[in-house]
Amino acid sequence: MEVKKNGFASKIGFILAGAGSAIGLGNLWSFPYKVYANGGAAFVVAYILSILLIGLVAMVAELYIGRRASANTVTSYSKINKKLGWVGLLVVLIPFLITCYYVVLGGWTLKFAVNSIPVLGGGDNVSIFGEFISDPVQTVVFGLIFLGLAVAIIMGGVKAGIEKMSKILMPMLFVIIIFIAIYCLCLGEGVSDGLAFYLMPDFNKLGLDGVIAAMGQAFYSMSLGMGIMVSYGSYTGKEIKLGQSAMMIAIFDTCVALIAGLGIFSAIGALSPEILANNTIEAGPTLMFVILPQVFADMGVFGYVISFLFFAMVAIAAVTSVISLLEVVSQYVIQRFKINRKKASLIIGLIMFAISIPIAWSVGGAFDGAIKVAGYDLLTLFDEATNTVLMPIGAFISCMAVGWFIDKNITPNPMATLSTLKADGLELNPTISMIFSVMVKYVTPALILLVEIAGLIGKFTDADYISMGGYIYPVIVGGLMVVASIVIFYAYLKNKTLGTNADEEIIDKTTA
Ligand code: PHE
Repeated sequence: MEVKKNGFASKIGFILAGAGSAIGLGNLWSFPYKVYANGGAAFVVAYILSILLIGLVAMVAELYIGRRASANTVTSYSKINKKLGWVGLLVVLIPFLITCYYVVLGGWTLKFAVNSIPVLGGGDNVSIFGEFISDPVQTVVFGLIFLGLAVAIIMGGVKAGIEKMSKILMPMLFVIIIFIAIYCLCLGEGVSDGLAFYLMPDFNKLGLDGVIAAMGQAFYSMSLGMGIMVSYGSYTGKEIKLGQSAMMIAIFDTCVALIAGLGIFSAIGALSPEILANNTIEAGPTLMFVILPQVFADMGVFGYVISFLFFAMVAIAAVTSVISLLEVVSQYVIQRFKINRKKASLIIGLIMFAISIPIAWSVGGAFDGAIKVAGYDLLTLFDEATNTVLMPIGAFISCMAVGWFIDKNITPNPMATLSTLKADGLELNPTISMIFSVMVKYVTPALILLVEIAGLIGKFTDADYISMGGYIYPVIVGGLMVVASIVIFYAYLKNKTLGTNADEEIIDKTTA
């Protein structure tokens, strides 16, 4: 069998795959809501600054960690410093958990896309949400189809799977979102009210909370702190410039988020102004699965088309994010257990599917809402544990690792760090690389720490969480993962050869 050399074949393929990971549900449903809730354009300013000060720096750091080792995350972090392999293990566990619940959400988006087609689902998505998420069969079936698509792409490998599909799906997503946004902007009266609602700058509404929310969003949206960029970086050769690519990914990511908000709020303003008047926009799934179907229904016949395109686009955004999560886990399993890619992704997919079933059942009213842990549905529990607790830890350590712990080069002098990075082939323009080494050493880790601490304080004092029994459970889940990865790493993995990307070709050859 002819063995392909694994890795990204082109710069644009890599950028689109990175953008595919970055652009996800966070852009399409969290971002527009957060802008509206936190002072409009004022939030956008804070968000762009966060991308520059935190997102880009952490992204380059993670890409570099992977590029330097050309290996799975555990090997990559241990090659930065022998003591850091447990971080690599942690960042394999995080995407593992996230995928289990992300496929549930992905399944919902697929259901809404299919249901938008009159002959397939009746075309009516208004008020089906509550019933659908309580249906124990449908939620699982749609989740399985969604996960199946992602596994199929991963099986194809980095070049023929991830890169090729990103090159097809991402341009599709861009075309659809621009088309929908233009359509919504042309809906006539009310559009400007909707836009004013979305973007009217209000720095009083932003506040410290808003700034923290902007930083957290920047971070989540750039897919940081969970090994994704380490893994994708490990598949790049020197011809792909990491700084430039990270910049392009950030630009795509931010534009899609902004455009999504333009479309959503124009449509709400033009078609459902009562929502603005009553100020009844809620965060999370309600905006996407309850309010927007109502807005689409008000569009008349063309509403079916827009609704289908919209949910298909959301499903595309979700699937390209899930493949990046799956790749982190697959890459590790392939290299650690020396099994081929197809087998690895199938096994991982099956395990994730099994775990996703109780998660799907714990949301909504399936089995009379019996499946809950400490009052939480599992989706919220996993989501909080990973987003608020674990991802900042992953990104913080990534920056610290690059800034301070490359081999034994522990020096507070950014210039020394700079020369290590240069010697390692991290090519940035000279001024930028100086700024980068100061940022990665001091500024970005400090800001991430702030997000983590402020985020935790906020959650601990949040009335909703207090009434549910407290925020302590997500913290326990997160804490257990940190401890487990430290223990497993030292007990079993410390002295093991954990493999590199080159192994995959050998495994392919021997199993061909
Ligand atoms: N960046 C994705 C988004 O904005 C979210 C994501 C999180 C993707 C975790 C992969 C992993 O929705």
